[in-house]
Amino acid sequence: MAESQRHPFLHGLSKHRGAPPTVVVIFGASGDLTARKLIPAVHNLSHDSLLPADFYLVGYGRKALLDDEFRGMAAEAIREFSRRELNPEAWGRVAAHTSYVAGGYDERPAFEKLAAHIDAIEQKLGREVQRLFYISTPPSVFAPIIINLGASGLAGKHLGTPLHSKVIIEKPFGKDLASARELNRTIRSVFAENQVYRIDHYLGKETVQDLLVQRFANAIFEPLWNRNFIDSVQITVAEEVGVGMRGGYYEQSGCLRDMIQNHTMQLLALTAMEPPGSLDAESIRDEKVKVLNAIQPLTIGPAGDVARAQYAMGMIGGKAAVGYLDEAGIAVDSNTETYAALRLSINNWRWQGVPFYLRSGKRMARRASEIAINFRRPPGTLFAGQTTRFDLAANTLSFQIQPDEGLSLILNTKVPGLETRTQPVKMSFRYATTFGSNTAEAYERLVLDAMVGDGTLFIRGDEAEASWKLCTPVLDYWRSVGRSGMDAYSAGSWGPPSADVLLAKHHHGWRQP
Ligand code: BG6
Repeated sequence: MAESQRHPFLHGLSKHRGAPPTVVVIFGASGDLTARKLIPAVHNLSHDSLLPADFYLVGYGRKALLDDEFRGMAAEAIREFSRRELNPEAWGRVAAHTSYVAGGYDERPAFEKLAAHIDAIEQKLGREVQRLFYISTPPSVFAPIIINLGASGLAGKHLGTPLHSKVIIEKPFGKDLASARELNRTIRSVFAENQVYRIDHYLGKETVQDLLVQRFANAIFEPLWNRNFIDSVQITVAEEVGVGMRGGYYEQSGCLRDMIQNHTMQLLALTAMEPPGSLDAESIRDEKVKVLNAIQPLTIGPAGDVARAQYAMGMIGGKAAVGYLDEAGIAVDSNTETYAALRLSINNWRWQGVPFYLRSGKRMARRASEIAINFRRPPGTLFAGQTTRFDLAANTLSFQIQPDEGLSLILNTKVPGLETRTQPVKMSFRYATTFGSNTAEAYERLVLDAMVGDGTLFIRGDEAEASWKLCTPVLDYWRSVGRSGMDAYSAGSWGPPSADVLLAKHHHGWRQP
């Protein structure tokens, strides 16, 4: 196996210290994601001495900006959004090699100007550099950018060497199966799959990576990880925030596209996949695709496997919150769901008969993302008579993805005293307590992984399509029925009644994370 394909779990982080000389070009340089996530990530990587000595940052966008103006905006972004304060030395190293190129996304000559700009950097440096293109623009210009990267020769630069060009593509990766396929076709007409890094920032979260370690580095879980011992799995990605100023984007998207198709489906894939043959990118992604393809198509329509809802006015953290339809930029008769819940069945040997429940929503009671594995209830007969046999709780193993990252296990314990009374207790591990709380942000890890050529924490083209294949019929159905069947939940609650109905079929209820 090529060194570049090995996973850092096997080698500590050593390979991350060996990123080759690189020019990172950010398309959408004056956008929100660049300010909130990408520039702070570069600053923090520089702070941790993880950037290569020869590192160059080029902002690209339609806005006419001078190099200095772009550097000023970047410094401001670090002050406002970085998890660490701006470190003058760390940022100074990057700022000295930061420049800006103005141009449209569908203007071939502007891309030729960009190519010449990077060639000049290479010549001045006197050595070859890899080009890493980060597409952080609205999705409408993904395809023109990719096509122009091909036409200008930028995509093919240094092909056949480890310095070959790479492209990171932000979400949303398509809006349904047909558009995702089309985007994949465009990408493949310009790039080879090993040049392409499709972002799902949930994969860059420490706790999501830990899921694989917990599953496969501990001998106690895997023997129980199947239909014989597991009763159901619940995956929750709840947010306290509403749509805020992103109404325009959100109206075109909705919860299923924004959160379920990507983030929660990725969590499901990592939870349910078979052990990969090795930890290299392709083995892990092969297993994820297999399990995504094993999910049974959803039953759609009334009494089907899906619920959707919009938040109505309510209270969050003691403050009144308006309903979705009263938010800025939202149509008064909007069909866009701010909450979605799914009941999934995986048709394979391991999971047959085990329901997987997925839910995500905005303006929920609190921010909480978790994966809860509910084990089968133990037979209670031994303890009958002391208390009722239903007192025995099912064991639940839960991975808290955020906040308060950690792992907990619910166990039945004897209450001290002469009687044998049982009580469920929670055994917990918290990252912050054990390792301190200042862990790297997902984007730091992901930018660095792309720079060193590790695709493990990125979505492969077939994965994106497998997940869209499942979600697209639901979107089509919703579009065809308008607002019919759209449920409501109060802002600050745990979701709508129709989501409870989904679980009631199997006599289950949603866990409160
Ligand atoms: C993004 C969605 O992908 O994830 C947002 O577009 C959402 O709507 C965000 O708020 C949540 O990410 P995190 O890391 O804050 O859980």
